[in-house]
Amino acid sequence: MSNIRGRFSKPADKLAALYTASLSFDRRLYKQDITGSIAHVKMLAKQDIISEDEAEVIVGGLEAIRAEIEKGKFKFAPEQEDIHMAIEARLIEKVGEVGRKLHTARSRNDQVALDMRLFLKEAIADSLSGIRGLEAALLDVAEANKSVVMPGYTHLQVAQPVLLAHHLLAYFEMLQRDYERFSDCLKRADVMPLGSGALAGVAFKIDREFLAKELGFSKVSQNSLDAVADRDYILEYQAAAAICMMHLSRLAEEIVLWSSAEFGFIELDDAYATGSSIMPQKKNPDVAELARGKTGRVYGNLIALLTTMKGLPLAYNRDMQEDKEGLFDTVDTLLATLSVLAGMVATIKVNAENTRKALERGYVLATDLADYLVKKGAAFRTAHEIVGKLVNYAAGKGKTLAGLDMKEYKKFSPLFNDDVRSITIESSLAARDVVGGTAPGQVKKALAAARRIIKKK
Ligand code: ARG
Repeated sequence: MSNIRGRFSKPADKLAALYTASLSFDRRLYKQDITGSIAHVKMLAKQDIISEDEAEVIVGGLEAIRAEIEKGKFKFAPEQEDIHMAIEARLIEKVGEVGRKLHTARSRNDQVALDMRLFLKEAIADSLSGIRGLEAALLDVAEANKSVVMPGYTHLQVAQPVLLAHHLLAYFEMLQRDYERFSDCLKRADVMPLGSGALAGVAFKIDREFLAKELGFSKVSQNSLDAVADRDYILEYQAAAAICMMHLSRLAEEIVLWSSAEFGFIELDDAYATGSSIMPQKKNPDVAELARGKTGRVYGNLIALLTTMKGLPLAYNRDMQEDKEGLFDTVDTLLATLSVLAGMVATIKVNAENTRKALERGYVLATDLADYLVKKGAAFRTAHEIVGKLVNYAAGKGKTLAGLDMKEYKKFSPLFNDDVRSITIESSLAARDVVGGTAPGQVKKALAAARRIIKKK
């Protein structure tokens, strides 16, 4: 830090220096920082702001530093405030005076914005492929269990029969929306801020378009104040991640429920189950529970940054250094959750006998019975009431609807006939033959469409 303390008459207080330093966590940006600096130096030479020879020496130095860091040979000195200063100081140490030219026409304010955007673009690409991985696992399980039926629930009460594949495809839809949200936030992350300087632009004839091209950005920022003060791109990622984690948490919750003895719909692979330290019989779904649990910290990281940003005057403020740890944590948490759930889902064993048995409990065909009466001429509200009474009667006798005889049916409505026996789980599924419905033909189409989507590059 000493190299930027020219205007001070004494060194920084130790605690103050420690408090303001970010090197312990922003060292994670070393690759982006060096990539950005190399492009910057090439641009400075191209514009005759420094000489080609000087640029070559600086680029060589930066590449050597990258190798040092990657080999674990770089000394991250605690007296360096952040990764930008640490790399610059080491450069000067390695190549001498010429290294002091690196920071020409640049500020750490546009530098850190660049590093974060480069980091985020990679994080988005990783998130997209993580989503694809889980989607593929869901489709595999859906396809392998194409004809498995289960109860669909509302209020966690047995509602109507659905195909397990249909239920799993609901998560595919959620993940597709997540995919789109991450893809969309890439557009705003994909903007090159270098050239904004500290806040007002830089006083050299630089070539920002060249920088954008070198660094793989499709646009350059249009307002220097905004470019160094904007963290929307991070917030958008955090928001997309929070929503995605909410979806993963709901999936995790269903895995927890379904693997319980009470449901018994699935069995977890041993590789994804955990034991209890006291109860030898336990096979616990800790992986799913932690996916559910970790959702909280991802929400927290979003709220933390929104709160940090809300009162900041333009342009850069040091508060914004707080954008990093939360983002890193969110990226790590999301990527880990996506891949561990993909593995967990892919190895799940479905118990089709139990999912069918669950359908026998909850008068799951009551809606179909009401629809039957409607097709015979009853008004729906009347049919609803008749079947309600019928269910109440059957429940009182401890019988299923199929267990009632024709005489009992007729007591509730003369419209009931022998053909009421043709109402089955299969007929119920087949009847819901609308786009987005659970009829086997519709689900087959939906599966094929989902496959096409994930195959597309
Ligand atoms: N470590 C700082 C951050 O992450 C880098 C920018 C510092 N700029 C400054 N004017 N102190 O925000």
